[in-house]
Amino acid sequence: MNLDTAAAEAGPTALIGVPLETAAGERRVALVPNVVERLRAAGLAVVVEAGAGAGALIPDEQYEQAGASIGDPWDADVVVKVNPPTAREIDALGSGSTLISFLAPLTQPETTAKLRSSGITGFAMEAVPRISRAQSMDALSSQANVAGYKAVLLAAERSTRFFPMLTTAAGTVKPATVLVLGVGVAGLQALATAKRLGARTTGFDVRPEVAEQVRSLGAKWLDLGIQASGEGGYARALTEEEQAEQQRRLTEAISGFDVVITTALVPGRPAPKLVTAEAVQRMRPGSVVVDLAGEMGGNCALTEPGETVVRHDVTVAAPLNLPATMPEHASELYARNVQSLLDLMVVDGKIAPDFSDEILAGSCVTRDKEA
Ligand code: NAI
Repeated sequence: MNLDTAAAEAGPTALIGVPLETAAGERRVALVPNVVERLRAAGLAVVVEAGAGAGALIPDEQYEQAGASIGDPWDADVVVKVNPPTAREIDALGSGSTLISFLAPLTQPETTAKLRSSGITGFAMEAVPRISRAQSMDALSSQANVAGYKAVLLAAERSTRFFPMLTTAAGTVKPATVLVLGVGVAGLQALATAKRLGARTTGFDVRPEVAEQVRSLGAKWLDLGIQASGEGGYARALTEEEQAEQQRRLTEAISGFDVVITTALVPGRPAPKLVTAEAVQRMRPGSVVVDLAGEMGGNCALTEPGETVVRHDVTVAAPLNLPATMPEHASELYARNVQSLLDLMVVDGKIAPDFSDEILAGSCVTRDKEA
Protein backbone atom coordinates (compact mmCIF):
# COMPACT_ATOMS: atom_id res chain seq x y z
CA MET A 1 0.00 0.00 0.00
CA ASN A 2 1.49 3.35 -0.96
CA LEU A 3 1.33 6.37 1.35
CA ASP A 4 -1.47 8.05 -0.60
CA THR A 5 -3.65 4.97 -0.25
CA ALA A 6 -2.89 4.80 3.46
CA ALA A 7 -3.83 8.47 3.86
CA ALA A 8 -7.04 7.97 1.88
CA GLU A 9 -7.99 4.99 4.03
CA ALA A 10 -7.29 6.99 7.20
CA GLY A 11 -9.67 9.72 5.88
CA PRO A 12 -8.98 13.43 5.68
CA THR A 13 -7.12 15.02 8.59
CA ALA A 14 -8.92 17.68 10.56
CA LEU A 15 -8.58 21.24 9.32
CA ILE A 16 -8.03 24.08 11.82
CA GLY A 17 -9.10 27.59 10.69
CA VAL A 18 -7.65 30.86 11.98
CA PRO A 19 -9.70 33.97 11.11
CA LEU A 20 -8.60 37.59 11.27
CA GLU A 21 -9.88 39.07 14.54
CA THR A 22 -12.45 41.79 13.85
CA ALA A 23 -13.01 43.32 17.32
CA ALA A 24 -12.03 46.99 17.51
CA GLY A 25 -8.42 47.45 18.63
CA GLU A 26 -7.70 43.71 18.64
CA ARG A 27 -4.20 42.86 17.43
CA ARG A 28 -3.88 39.31 18.68
CA VAL A 29 -4.24 36.17 16.58
CA ALA A 30 -5.27 32.72 17.83
CA LEU A 31 -2.34 30.74 16.37
CA VAL A 32 1.26 31.73 15.68
CA PRO A 33 3.57 30.01 13.17
CA ASN A 34 5.55 27.85 15.60
CA VAL A 35 2.31 26.48 17.01
CA VAL A 36 1.08 25.83 13.45
CA GLU A 37 4.23 23.73 12.96
CA ARG A 38 3.45 21.69 16.06
CA LEU A 39 -0.15 21.13 14.94
CA ARG A 40 1.09 20.02 11.51
CA ALA A 41 3.46 17.59 13.24
CA ALA A 42 0.46 16.24 15.15
CA GLY A 43 -1.20 15.47 11.82
CA LEU A 44 -3.53 18.49 11.50
CA ALA A 45 -3.94 20.87 8.57
CA VAL A 46 -4.21 24.63 9.17
CA VAL A 47 -5.79 27.38 7.07
CA VAL A 48 -5.17 31.02 8.02
CA GLU A 49 -7.18 33.99 6.74
CA ALA A 50 -5.02 36.45 4.77
CA GLY A 51 -3.72 39.15 7.12
CA ALA A 52 -4.82 37.32 10.30
CA GLY A 53 -1.37 37.82 11.85
CA ALA A 54 -0.84 41.38 10.64
CA GLY A 55 -1.77 43.00 13.98
CA ALA A 56 0.86 40.84 15.70
CA LEU A 57 3.33 41.61 12.88
CA ILE A 58 3.23 38.05 11.54
CA PRO A 59 3.11 38.07 7.73
CA ASP A 60 1.15 35.42 5.81
CA GLU A 61 4.42 34.00 4.43
CA GLN A 62 5.50 32.95 7.92
CA TYR A 63 2.32 30.91 8.30
CA GLU A 64 2.92 29.36 4.88
CA GLN A 65 6.50 28.49 5.82
CA ALA A 66 5.11 26.79 8.93
CA GLY A 67 2.91 24.61 6.74
CA ALA A 68 -0.41 26.49 6.79
CA SER A 69 -2.35 27.51 3.70
CA ILE A 70 -3.84 30.98 3.32
CA GLY A 71 -7.55 30.93 2.60
CA ASP A 72 -11.07 30.81 4.01
CA PRO A 73 -10.90 29.66 7.64
CA TRP A 74 -14.67 29.39 8.23
CA ASP A 75 -15.17 26.00 6.54
CA ALA A 76 -12.57 24.34 8.79
CA ASP A 77 -13.52 21.53 11.18
CA VAL A 78 -12.32 23.63 14.11
CA VAL A 79 -12.14 27.43 14.05
CA VAL A 80 -9.86 28.98 16.67
CA LYS A 81 -10.36 32.62 17.67
CA VAL A 82 -9.45 35.08 20.39
CA ASN A 83 -12.62 37.17 20.78
CA PRO A 84 -16.19 35.87 20.93
CA PRO A 85 -17.62 35.58 17.39
CA THR A 86 -20.04 38.15 16.02
CA ALA A 87 -23.47 36.97 14.80
CA ARG A 88 -22.18 37.14 11.23
CA GLU A 89 -19.12 35.03 12.13
CA ILE A 90 -21.37 32.41 13.74
CA ASP A 91 -23.40 32.32 10.51
CA ALA A 92 -20.14 31.69 8.62
CA LEU A 93 -19.43 28.59 10.76
CA GLY A 94 -21.03 25.47 9.42
CA SER A 95 -23.45 23.47 11.55
CA GLY A 96 -21.51 20.61 13.15
CA SER A 97 -18.26 22.58 13.29
CA THR A 98 -16.28 23.34 16.43
CA LEU A 99 -15.20 26.72 17.78
CA ILE A 100 -12.47 27.35 20.37
CA SER A 101 -12.36 30.95 21.60
CA PHE A 102 -13.04 33.27 24.49
CA LEU A 103 -16.86 33.10 24.41
CA ALA A 104 -17.85 35.19 27.47
CA PRO A 105 -20.49 32.64 28.50
CA LEU A 106 -21.37 34.52 31.69
CA THR A 107 -21.55 38.04 30.26
CA GLN A 108 -22.64 37.45 26.64
CA PRO A 109 -25.19 34.62 26.90
CA GLU A 110 -26.61 35.60 23.49
CA THR A 111 -23.40 34.34 21.85
CA THR A 112 -23.74 30.94 23.51
CA ALA A 113 -27.43 30.80 22.58
CA LYS A 114 -26.69 31.50 18.92
CA LEU A 115 -23.87 28.94 18.82
CA ARG A 116 -26.24 26.37 20.27
CA SER A 117 -29.10 27.10 17.86
CA SER A 118 -26.60 26.99 14.96
CA GLY A 119 -25.45 23.48 15.93
CA ILE A 120 -21.88 24.51 16.76
CA THR A 121 -19.79 22.88 19.47
CA GLY A 122 -18.20 25.74 21.42
CA PHE A 123 -15.28 25.50 23.82
CA ALA A 124 -14.86 28.66 25.93
CA MET A 125 -11.25 29.37 26.87
CA GLU A 126 -12.40 31.18 30.02
CA ALA A 127 -14.27 28.06 31.15
CA VAL A 128 -11.18 25.79 31.18
CA PRO A 129 -11.13 24.48 34.78
CA ARG A 130 -8.42 26.07 36.97
CA ILE A 131 -6.84 22.69 37.81
CA SER A 132 -3.16 21.70 37.65
CA ARG A 133 -3.59 19.48 34.57
CA ALA A 134 -5.14 22.41 32.66
CA GLN A 135 -2.50 25.03 33.49
CA SER A 136 -1.05 24.96 29.97
CA MET A 137 -4.53 25.73 28.58
CA ASP A 138 -5.30 28.56 31.01
CA ALA A 139 -5.74 31.55 28.73
CA LEU A 140 -7.29 33.68 31.48
CA SER A 141 -3.96 33.40 33.29
CA SER A 142 -1.71 33.89 30.26
CA GLN A 143 -3.55 37.05 29.25
CA ALA A 144 -3.89 38.32 32.84
CA ASN A 145 -0.10 38.15 33.12
CA VAL A 146 0.20 40.47 30.13
CA ALA A 147 -2.39 42.87 31.59
CA GLY A 148 -0.75 42.97 35.03
CA TYR A 149 2.65 43.71 33.55
CA LYS A 150 1.38 46.40 31.19
CA ALA A 151 -0.71 48.08 33.91
CA VAL A 152 2.48 48.80 35.86
CA LEU A 153 4.23 50.24 32.82
CA LEU A 154 1.24 52.52 32.19
CA ALA A 155 1.26 53.64 35.80
CA ALA A 156 4.99 54.36 35.67
CA GLU A 157 4.54 56.30 32.45
CA ARG A 158 1.74 58.47 33.88
CA SER A 159 3.35 58.95 37.30
CA THR A 160 5.04 62.25 38.02
CA ARG A 161 7.48 60.38 40.26
CA PHE A 162 10.19 57.71 39.88
CA PHE A 163 9.43 54.08 40.80
CA PRO A 164 12.95 53.18 42.07
CA MET A 165 14.89 54.84 44.83
CA LEU A 166 17.48 57.04 43.13
CA THR A 167 20.63 58.24 44.76
CA THR A 168 22.04 61.09 42.72
CA ALA A 169 24.47 63.95 43.21
CA ALA A 170 21.40 66.15 43.56
CA GLY A 171 20.01 64.08 46.38
CA THR A 172 18.09 60.88 47.05
CA VAL A 173 14.62 60.18 45.71
CA LYS A 174 12.38 57.84 47.67
CA PRO A 175 10.92 54.80 45.87
CA ALA A 176 7.29 54.92 44.80
CA THR A 177 4.72 53.04 46.83
CA VAL A 178 2.40 50.78 44.83
CA LEU A 179 -0.78 49.17 46.15
CA VAL A 180 -2.39 46.33 44.20
CA LEU A 181 -6.04 45.64 45.03
CA GLY A 182 -7.15 42.16 43.96
CA VAL A 183 -4.24 39.75 43.83
CA GLY A 184 -5.19 37.05 41.33
CA VAL A 185 -2.97 36.35 38.35
CA ALA A 186 -2.91 39.95 37.05
CA GLY A 187 -2.37 41.35 40.53
CA LEU A 188 0.55 39.03 41.27
CA GLN A 189 2.20 39.98 37.98
CA ALA A 190 1.60 43.68 38.77
CA LEU A 191 3.28 43.27 42.17
CA ALA A 192 6.24 41.44 40.62
CA THR A 193 6.66 44.02 37.85
CA ALA A 194 6.39 47.02 40.18
CA LYS A 195 8.99 45.40 42.45
CA ARG A 196 11.36 44.88 39.52
CA LEU A 197 11.02 48.58 38.75
CA GLY A 198 12.10 49.35 42.30
CA ALA A 199 8.80 50.33 43.92
CA ARG A 200 7.73 49.43 47.45
CA THR A 201 4.80 47.12 46.95
CA THR A 202 1.72 46.14 48.95
CA GLY A 203 -1.11 43.77 48.05
CA PHE A 204 -4.68 43.39 49.26
CA ASP A 205 -7.33 40.78 48.49
CA VAL A 206 -10.43 39.42 50.18
CA ARG A 207 -9.00 35.89 49.85
CA PRO A 208 -6.62 35.62 52.85
CA GLU A 209 -4.89 32.59 51.30
CA VAL A 210 -3.21 35.00 48.87
CA ALA A 211 -1.20 36.69 51.64
CA GLU A 212 1.67 34.18 51.41
CA GLN A 213 1.97 34.64 47.63
CA VAL A 214 2.05 38.43 48.10
CA ARG A 215 4.82 38.16 50.69
CA SER A 216 6.78 35.75 48.48
CA LEU A 217 7.01 38.57 45.93
CA GLY A 218 8.62 40.86 48.48
CA ALA A 219 5.41 42.84 48.96
CA LYS A 220 3.58 43.72 52.17
CA TRP A 221 0.12 42.29 52.83
CA LEU A 222 -2.52 44.88 53.68
CA ASP A 223 -4.79 43.26 56.24
CA LEU A 224 -8.16 45.01 56.42
CA GLY A 225 -9.85 42.16 58.24
CA ILE A 226 -12.23 41.47 55.33
CA GLN A 227 -12.49 37.91 54.04
CA ALA A 228 -14.67 36.67 51.18
CA SER A 229 -13.28 33.48 49.66
CA GLY A 230 -15.85 31.89 47.35
CA GLU A 231 -16.26 28.85 45.11
CA GLY A 232 -13.46 27.37 43.00
CA GLY A 233 -10.71 29.69 44.25
CA TYR A 234 -12.61 32.84 43.26
CA ALA A 235 -13.83 35.58 45.58
CA ARG A 236 -17.52 35.88 46.42
CA ALA A 237 -19.36 39.19 46.10
CA LEU A 238 -19.36 41.21 49.33
CA THR A 239 -22.61 42.13 51.05
CA GLU A 240 -23.54 45.84 50.93
CA GLU A 241 -22.36 46.29 54.52
CA GLU A 242 -19.06 44.52 53.87
CA GLN A 243 -18.51 46.61 50.74
CA ALA A 244 -19.17 49.88 52.62
CA GLU A 245 -16.77 48.79 55.36
CA GLN A 246 -14.14 47.80 52.79
CA GLN A 247 -14.44 51.17 51.04
CA ARG A 248 -14.12 53.00 54.35
CA ARG A 249 -10.97 51.10 55.36
CA LEU A 250 -9.43 51.35 51.90
CA THR A 251 -10.07 55.10 51.71
CA GLU A 252 -7.87 55.47 54.80
CA ALA A 253 -5.17 53.18 53.40
CA ILE A 254 -5.01 54.43 49.80
CA SER A 255 -3.98 58.01 50.55
CA GLY A 256 -0.50 56.80 51.49
CA PHE A 257 0.26 55.30 48.06
CA ASP A 258 1.62 56.86 44.86
CA VAL A 259 0.07 54.23 42.59
CA VAL A 260 -2.99 52.01 42.99
CA ILE A 261 -3.56 49.16 40.53
CA THR A 262 -6.92 47.44 40.78
CA THR A 263 -7.81 44.04 39.31
CA ALA A 264 -10.69 42.88 41.53
CA LEU A 265 -13.29 40.72 39.81
CA VAL A 266 -16.01 38.29 40.81
CA PRO A 267 -16.96 35.96 37.92
CA GLY A 268 -20.07 37.11 36.04
CA ARG A 269 -20.71 40.13 38.33
CA PRO A 270 -20.09 43.86 37.96
CA ALA A 271 -16.64 44.75 39.32
CA PRO A 272 -16.71 45.60 43.05
CA LYS A 273 -16.18 49.29 43.78
CA LEU A 274 -13.09 49.49 45.97
CA VAL A 275 -11.75 53.00 45.38
CA THR A 276 -14.18 55.81 46.17
CA ALA A 277 -14.07 59.34 44.74
CA GLU A 278 -12.99 60.51 48.20
CA ALA A 279 -10.09 58.03 48.20
CA VAL A 280 -8.86 59.48 44.88
CA GLN A 281 -9.26 63.02 46.18
CA ARG A 282 -7.13 62.17 49.20
CA MET A 283 -4.22 60.82 47.10
CA ARG A 284 -1.23 63.09 46.53
CA PRO A 285 -1.41 65.15 43.31
CA GLY A 286 0.49 63.30 40.56
CA SER A 287 -0.59 59.87 41.80
CA VAL A 288 -2.05 57.26 39.46
CA VAL A 289 -4.85 54.71 39.58
CA VAL A 290 -4.83 52.01 36.87
CA ASP A 291 -8.11 50.11 36.89
CA LEU A 292 -7.94 46.75 35.09
CA ALA A 293 -11.59 45.98 35.85
CA GLY A 294 -12.93 48.56 33.37
CA GLU A 295 -14.60 45.93 31.20
CA MET A 296 -16.84 45.01 34.14
CA GLY A 297 -17.50 48.64 35.13
CA GLY A 298 -14.31 49.32 37.07
CA ASN A 299 -13.09 49.12 40.67
CA CYS A 300 -12.80 52.89 41.02
CA ALA A 301 -15.79 55.23 41.30
CA LEU A 302 -14.11 57.72 38.92
CA THR A 303 -13.25 55.14 36.27
CA GLU A 304 -14.41 55.79 32.73
CA PRO A 305 -13.89 52.45 30.97
CA GLY A 306 -11.48 52.76 28.07
CA GLU A 307 -10.45 56.31 29.05
CA THR A 308 -7.66 58.00 30.96
CA VAL A 309 -8.97 60.94 32.98
CA VAL A 310 -7.39 63.30 35.50
CA ARG A 311 -9.47 63.97 38.62
CA HIS A 312 -8.23 65.97 41.63
CA ASP A 313 -4.78 65.96 39.93
CA VAL A 314 -4.76 62.15 40.02
CA THR A 315 -4.68 60.13 36.79
CA VAL A 316 -7.36 57.44 36.63
CA ALA A 317 -6.70 55.11 33.69
CA ALA A 318 -9.01 52.24 32.74
CA PRO A 319 -7.48 50.67 29.64
CA LEU A 320 -9.51 47.91 28.00
CA ASN A 321 -7.95 44.78 26.52
CA LEU A 322 -4.35 45.43 27.52
CA PRO A 323 -3.23 42.05 26.12
CA ALA A 324 -4.00 43.41 22.63
CA THR A 325 -1.35 46.09 23.20
CA MET A 326 1.34 43.38 23.41
CA PRO A 327 0.09 41.26 20.50
CA GLU A 328 3.28 39.29 19.88
CA HIS A 329 3.72 37.65 23.26
CA ALA A 330 -0.01 37.68 24.09
CA SER A 331 -0.70 35.75 20.83
CA GLU A 332 2.21 33.37 21.44
CA LEU A 333 0.95 32.46 24.90
CA TYR A 334 -2.69 32.25 23.78
CA ALA A 335 -1.73 30.02 20.84
CA ARG A 336 0.02 27.60 23.20
CA ASN A 337 -3.09 27.52 25.40
CA VAL A 338 -5.22 26.70 22.33
CA GLN A 339 -2.74 24.06 21.15
CA SER A 340 -2.83 22.32 24.54
CA LEU A 341 -6.63 22.21 24.44
CA LEU A 342 -6.57 20.93 20.84
CA ASP A 343 -4.03 18.24 21.81
CA LEU A 344 -6.62 16.89 24.23
CA MET A 345 -9.27 16.47 21.55
CA VAL A 346 -7.20 15.18 18.63
CA VAL A 347 -6.83 11.44 18.08
CA ASP A 348 -4.86 10.32 14.98
CA GLY A 349 -5.32 13.68 13.26
CA LYS A 350 -9.10 13.67 13.83
CA ILE A 351 -11.16 15.75 16.22
CA ALA A 352 -12.56 13.26 18.71
CA PRO A 353 -13.21 15.00 22.03
CA ASP A 354 -13.82 12.75 24.97
CA PHE A 355 -16.52 14.67 26.79
CA SER A 356 -16.01 12.65 29.95
CA ASP A 357 -12.65 14.44 30.31
CA GLU A 358 -13.06 17.06 33.08
CA ILE A 359 -11.29 19.75 31.04
CA LEU A 360 -13.28 19.26 27.85
CA ALA A 361 -16.56 18.86 29.74
CA GLY A 362 -15.85 22.04 31.73
CA SER A 363 -14.85 24.21 28.79
CA CYS A 364 -17.56 22.98 26.38
CA VAL A 365 -20.43 25.47 26.57
CA THR A 366 -22.46 24.24 23.57
CA ARG A 367 -22.39 20.77 22.05
CA ASP A 368 -24.10 20.52 18.71
CA LYS A 369 -27.71 21.39 19.61
CA GLU A 370 -27.71 19.55 22.92
CA ALA A 371 -25.63 21.18 25.66
P1 NAI B 1 -10.05 37.20 39.07
O1 NAI B 1 -9.56 37.88 37.85
O2 NAI B 1 -11.39 36.55 39.04
O3 NAI B 1 -10.07 38.26 40.27
C1 NAI B 1 -8.92 38.99 40.60
C2 NAI B 1 -8.78 39.06 42.10
O4 NAI B 1 -9.76 39.96 42.65
C3 NAI B 1 -8.99 37.73 42.82
O5 NAI B 1 -7.80 37.42 43.53
C4 NAI B 1 -10.15 38.02 43.77
O6 NAI B 1 -10.02 37.34 45.01
C5 NAI B 1 -10.05 39.52 43.94
N1 NAI B 1 -11.26 40.18 44.46
C6 NAI B 1 -12.55 39.96 44.14
N2 NAI B 1 -13.36 40.78 44.86
C7 NAI B 1 -12.56 41.56 45.62
C8 NAI B 1 -12.78 42.61 46.56
N3 NAI B 1 -14.01 43.02 46.87
N4 NAI B 1 -11.71 43.17 47.15
C9 NAI B 1 -10.45 42.76 46.85
N5 NAI B 1 -10.17 41.77 45.98
C10 NAI B 1 -11.21 41.18 45.37
O7 NAI B 1 -8.97 36.16 39.58
P2 NAI B 1 -7.98 35.24 38.75
O8 NAI B 1 -6.72 35.92 38.55
O9 NAI B 1 -8.71 34.75 37.55
O10 NAI B 1 -7.75 34.04 39.75
C11 NAI B 1 -8.89 33.31 40.26
C12 NAI B 1 -8.48 32.06 41.03
O11 NAI B 1 -7.98 31.07 40.15
C13 NAI B 1 -7.38 32.28 42.06
O12 NAI B 1 -7.72 31.52 43.21
C14 NAI B 1 -6.16 31.69 41.42
O13 NAI B 1 -5.22 31.26 42.37
C15 NAI B 1 -6.79 30.53 40.69
N6 NAI B 1 -5.94 30.04 39.63
C16 NAI B 1 -5.66 28.69 39.57
C17 NAI B 1 -4.88 28.19 38.58
C18 NAI B 1 -4.63 26.72 38.52
O14 NAI B 1 -4.60 26.05 39.51
N7 NAI B 1 -4.47 26.19 37.33
C19 NAI B 1 -4.30 29.05 37.54
C20 NAI B 1 -4.65 30.45 37.69
C21 NAI B 1 -5.45 30.90 38.69
